Amino acid sequence: MAAFTERMALLLMLWLVVSLSGTWAVDRANFKTCDQSSFCKRQRAMKPGESPYRALLETMELTNTRLTLQLINDNNKVRLLLELYRLQGNITRVKINELKPLKPRYEVPDVLIREPPTEPLSLLSQDENGVVLSLGAESQRVILSARPFRLDIMEGRNVLMSLNSRGLLAFEHLRMRKDTFSYKVTSTVASVWDNIKSVFSSQADPEAEKKEEAEPANQAETAEDAGKEEDGMWEEMFKSHSDSKPNGPSAVSLDFSLPGVEHVYGIPEHADSLRLKTTDNGDPYRLYNLDVFQYELYNPMALYGSVPVMLAHSAQRTTGIFWLNAAETWVDISSNTAGKTVFGKMLDYVQGSSETPQTDVRWISESGIVDVFIMLGPTPKDVFSQYASLTGTQAFPPIAAIAYHQCRWNYNDQEDVQAVDAGFDEHDIPYDFIWLDIEHTDGKRYFTWEPHKFATPKEMLQNLLDKKRKMVAIVDPHIKIDSNYKIHNEIRSLGFYIKNKDGGDYEGWCWPGSAGYPDFTRADMRAWWASMFAYDQYEGSMENLYTWNDMNEPSVFNGPEVTMHKDAVHGAWEHRDVHNLYGLYVHMATAEGLIQRSGGVERPFVLTRAFFAGSQRYGAVWTGDNSAEWDHLKISIPMCLSLGVVGISFCGADVGGFFKSPSPELLVRWYQTGAYQPFFRAHAHLDTPRREPWLFGPENMALIRDAVRQRYTLLPYWYQQFYHAYKTGQPVMRPLWVEYPQDPVTFGLDDEFLIGRDLLVHPVTEEGSRGVTAYLPGKDEVWFDVHTFQKHNGAQNLYIPVTMSSIPVFQRGGSIISRKLRVRRSSTCMEHDPYTLYVALSPQRTAEGELYIDDGHTFNYEKKEFIHRRLSFSNNILSSINLSPESQFSTLSWIERIVILGASKPKQVTLKTAGAEDTQLEYDFDASMSVLTLRKPGMNAGIDWTVTLE
Ligand code: GLC
Repeated sequence: MAAFTERMALLLMLWLVVSLSGTWAVDRANFKTCDQSSFCKRQRAMKPGESPYRALLETMELTNTRLTLQLINDNNKVRLLLELYRLQGNITRVKINELKPLKPRYEVPDVLIREPPTEPLSLLSQDENGVVLSLGAESQRVILSARPFRLDIMEGRNVLMSLNSRGLLAFEHLRMRKDTFSYKVTSTVASVWDNIKSVFSSQADPEAEKKEEAEPANQAETAEDAGKEEDGMWEEMFKSHSDSKPNGPSAVSLDFSLPGVEHVYGIPEHADSLRLKTTDNGDPYRLYNLDVFQYELYNPMALYGSVPVMLAHSAQRTTGIFWLNAAETWVDISSNTAGKTVFGKMLDYVQGSSETPQTDVRWISESGIVDVFIMLGPTPKDVFSQYASLTGTQAFPPIAAIAYHQCRWNYNDQEDVQAVDAGFDEHDIPYDFIWLDIEHTDGKRYFTWEPHKFATPKEMLQNLLDKKRKMVAIVDPHIKIDSNYKIHNEIRSLGFYIKNKDGGDYEGWCWPGSAGYPDFTRADMRAWWASMFAYDQYEGSMENLYTWNDMNEPSVFNGPEVTMHKDAVHGAWEHRDVHNLYGLYVHMATAEGLIQRSGGVERPFVLTRAFFAGSQRYGAVWTGDNSAEWDHLKISIPMCLSLGVVGISFCGADVGGFFKSPSPELLVRWYQTGAYQPFFRAHAHLDTPRREPWLFGPENMALIRDAVRQRYTLLPYWYQQFYHAYKTGQPVMRPLWVEYPQDPVTFGLDDEFLIGRDLLVHPVTEEGSRGVTAYLPGKDEVWFDVHTFQKHNGAQNLYIPVTMSSIPVFQRGGSIISRKLRVRRSSTCMEHDPYTLYVALSPQRTAEGELYIDDGHTFNYEKKEFIHRRLSFSNNILSSINLSPESQFSTLSWIERIVILGASKPKQVTLKTAGAEDTQLEYDFDASMSVLTLRKPGMNAGIDWTVTLE
């Protein structure tokens, strides 16, 4: 044990040394390629061709809402059960499982917000070749072909999507291991086999076994199948790690063809472009939550989180595929237009030789079942709503959480916290949260405080509270094995730790040294964990202390690929089955803890590193350990956009870069970019020099201050976007194609984005830049530079000269955006401040916007305690009307200024409010920029009013 401890300490040292030493590439050898992941290799070796699966039409059963049918694999006679549902909102669900698996296969719980409501299915026709079903809406049909089995989803005469059209449906049925001794038996394998036998004897369903005997056709392998047994099916090695695979091979895979589609997006998390690449010449995109040390950019390697959702987009339509499987998953993409230049495509067209573009994808998962939701759009917004109807929307954060966060590993002690806090005041830079990393704990025992450095945490928190500021402290899910640590003792005595394959508590190595990993897949464990956040349990905590969950992939320093062994045990399931869900469960339990500690009154704020589909319901995510390099700044845009389009709006990257030290220029540019991304937090590695904004000279400090202040002035707009995301599932930070789905120029943009619908941001992400070229979309649109108010036409590439202070941001003509211009210490200090409305007129001289106001931190908005108003300008009248007449809330905030961009000069301006005399407003008109500024209209932000320009 001592030797082991020493070895691990050395490894840790090495980790720290490498992180200092300037060797900046990921060690790829630590992570599997598809070839090193036996199921991926096996499945990928299957080439497109005739599928061995045949639909047994005589087994078809059709109820009002469900079709079931058996599929048979003609090679091995194993039968599968296909279920097909039409779900509300233009979604089709296809489930495929073994008809009679040896034991149940894992079906992902807790990700769907409810059992999705179904709609009627009806049979349109049937013959010996297949059946045609009506999907109700918009002349949609499913054609199920029997021989070979395939599904085609049609609308009118168009095929929207085909399943198994390339014959890649594969289902490794659960089987008894045939002949251990013809297999290469080593002594370790023999003991693994004992274990397999014991698992089977304890877990196999005797009923199922009996049935198997009665129906030999459905049993284990045909000779052919048995002959196919390969290395890696019953045991797999990766480096020095063995995976015992008691259930043998269990992979599932399916192909989807997308006619008319050239562009696919989503399946985060990868450090890659927004538009996904074809994978023919390399590995598939991998989804397997991993703690990747110093990740590399522009490749399909797995990272900390996984959302198995892909969007397919063309100028005609957007659709989505949600592959609900939490096991290790690989996604292959190929396209018949890949590699063709625009010129080549045009030539094809002119010569009449162009084929319809098509993208083909193949999903491969290590275990579980096929459970896939086909979201049929047709618009990007429809797909977002469809996905939100399945997995929920973005949690509505407290407003402070969308302000600025100051973090580093570590703020050393209470004095340090106080000094940094004072530094922000001294330099007049607002911030809302200061963060404490792992060193704040007593020896990496989470929920505790280092007794000397953080001797009086409540005093520290109270000081922050007095300034209307907050703190986040880290709570990781690995628990120090130490019999003097209450948390560990309770988890152990409650039997809540994940077990290893031999039944003991799983132990791995992480920050505290030897650690146990609570089984967050258990509801009782999560309830216990949540109760640990109660003020009387978490000593030193107060209402302004929030939480950061890190290392929840889970990270296991001495585990295979720095994570947990797949044969670790969660009750009836292997870690293999649930791996990608672990982080979501940690996040869920922690958010629940923060809600409960306030008696359900206060909104939680929890940041997580690992995530899955549905994680949006629990808080924010960040892109992990990036690096202080220009390319890492650039990639923060597509990485957050890719998360946004699959429901996770609250995304950010470590501002400044985690590893290494940014040059002052890079740091300034990173603040300028981060100020316009949803989660805005500076963070840095323990060994980097300090980087509080005032340490880079007065000029850089002023530039950083200006970027942070821009964020604060825009908080009302950000907050309204988050409210909208929470209500509708639309992303806050969005790719341009979401709003301009027919404009191909927008399909591949990685360096600019929209916030909501109305703000376009093209941050400067190039070193030494003197100008950027921003694409302003929309041939009928105009865009106003938010700094100069200069107007530009849409559908053009606009060259914008930049200096170090430039953050190119444009407001769409036709929109109204509210800001608070009196920036103070924190967002909470600005709560009652007045608003300035920026009305940017469209070419038709109209504009629309909203104003959303609530208390900023409780769940009372669910009880309709908010103000939600529609602001609109047309016929020279600007008005505010109530969008939610039944809600009840009042605000002290008033409208202190209205700026109308693209205006002409009025003779007079009249304000009308109910029950008051009409008033003439004073105004300024800047004829050179066509900007009309109405000074001090002064009405309360929560009432009806009109302002008429005459
Ligand atoms: C991980 C996190 C990083 C954190 C560090 C120490 O590397 O990604 O943000 O600072 O652990 O807790």
